[in-house]
Amino acid sequence: MQSLSDLLKHEKKRIAFVPTMGFLHKGHLSLMKEGLRHADYLVLSIFVNPAQFGPGEDLESYPRNFKKDADLVEKEGVNVIFAPDAKDIYPEHFQTYITLNDLPHHLCGISRPNHFRGVATIVTKLFNIVKPHTAIFGQKDFQQLAVIKQMVSDLNLDIEIIGAPIIREDDGLAMSSRNVYLSVDERQSALSLFKALNNSQKLLKSGETDASKIINEAVKLINSYKKTLIDYIAVCDPETLTDIKKIEKPVLMALAVKIGKTRLIDNMILN
Ligand code: PAJ
Repeated sequence: MQSLSDLLKHEKKRIAFVPTMGFLHKGHLSLMKEGLRHADYLVLSIFVNPAQFGPGEDLESYPRNFKKDADLVEKEGVNVIFAPDAKDIYPEHFQTYITLNDLPHHLCGISRPNHFRGVATIVTKLFNIVKPHTAIFGQKDFQQLAVIKQMVSDLNLDIEIIGAPIIREDDGLAMSSRNVYLSVDERQSALSLFKALNNSQKLLKSGETDASKIINEAVKLINSYKKTLIDYIAVCDPETLTDIKKIEKPVLMALAVKIGKTRLIDNMILN
């Protein structure tokens, strides 16, 4: 992969990179389309990264279907799929990790303590292997995007990071590889995330600027659905991810909810 990228750069080609864990959906495809708007060569990686899963999380059961993914992206202009084996990425005696001081201590990082260490490490490794000019990440994982932007800036990585909007199903559910875990009933309850975000936006528009009141309404709405268990609901600064009490400028509302055994996340900029 490194030799290929060197060759492409020698030919003055611009390389866009979309890292994924596979089981691709239209959200992933939108990142690929965005990539091709900024480059003439597109690299997709598919790697379920063990380092970002905690004990008891879904590493083993995470959905995988390489053949289907490869068929799906054939029409998307992907030039190369980089799909390494875990033993090559993390050989025995691997010992170097990337950690950030502040951003991981909010939102998802609270219930997933080593998650962003795993993400920052794999993304750095993939950047060094693929050597792209630009890389595209979804705003669906807002905190992940913030972590990567910060890391690229802190470490002077010469890569342009592009954030792309959340792609949703027709009824509003944010697309996710994990949506396949949902039963018919759970699929209904999963709609509560987007409904709560929309309702919060409505409350703010109608003049409610007290974040705790907006959060309380979201809690009530989500709890009125079956099999929902809220991990967090936060109204925070979109850059630092620190909580905001009174809303006076656009804020990030982010939430994570377990629906049965499936943990879903969603977010929206409220303004
Ligand atoms: P994965 O969950 O497969 O997501 C890959 C990329 O697709 C991420 O940038 C994510 O934000 C984006 N994405 C997922 N669902 C989306 C949606 N509904 N709309 C828009 N974009 C969406 O995120 C990861 O993998 C991993 O953490 C990874 C960055 C690959 C590192 O292992």
